[in-house]
Amino acid sequence: MAILTAYFSRPGENYGSGGLVELAKGNTEVIAEFVQSAVGGDLFRTETVEQYPAGYYDCCDVAKAELQEGARPALANSLESLDEYDTIFLGYPCWWGTCPMAVFAFLDSFDLSGKRIIPFCTHEGSGMGGSERHLAKDYPAATIERGLAIAGHSAANSESQVASWAKSFV
Ligand SMILES: Cc1cc2nc3c(=O)[nH]c(=O)nc-3n(C[C@H](O)[C@H](O)[C@H](O)COP(=O)(O)O)c2cc1C
Repeated sequence: MAILTAYFSRPGENYGSGGLVELAKGNTEVIAEFVQSAVGGDLFRTETVEQYPAGYYDCCDVAKAELQEGARPALANSLESLDEYDTIFLGYPCWWGTCPMAVFAFLDSFDLSGKRIIPFCTHEGSGMGGSERHLAKDYPAATIERGLAIAGHSAANSESQVASWAKSFV
């Protein structure tokens, strides 16, 4: 069975080490590419119909409202099914201590019975937050493995750590 690395990531203004930074490529996207190049398989980036604000503080406001509402933002793309995959590396930035609601929107559309989901996230202090617990609660048919948290500002320097972690699952 094939491996899928599916992720959500938002380029633009973000909080880096000690201040705001402008990211041409999102931190989670950097990590997702390291995962896929270590374990092979397919790479898929979830995108929302409505772009999140480019400004960090504006995006924080939108993301907070979505979390409070349990929103499931409309997605601009998806996969027809996950049938060909048994192992899914799932990447996201930590937003307000959990996954962005777009990640739940992506997962909600599939039958996850028997799937092994291996989360990874980038963050600026919260680590995985409650995300592993929240995924396990919402998707009891899947096995949610212990995730890997990488500080966003050190994403570019984490390839060897990410690769050895990812390879330990396959
Ligand atoms: C809306 C929003 C909420 C965030 N919430 C948190 C948080 O709760 N904890 C944390 O450590 N970092 C938080 N961050 C920082 C991001 O997790 C971090 O910058 C991450 O590397 C961004 O990944 P990306 O570039 O792939 O989107 C937040 C960033 C944004 C934009």
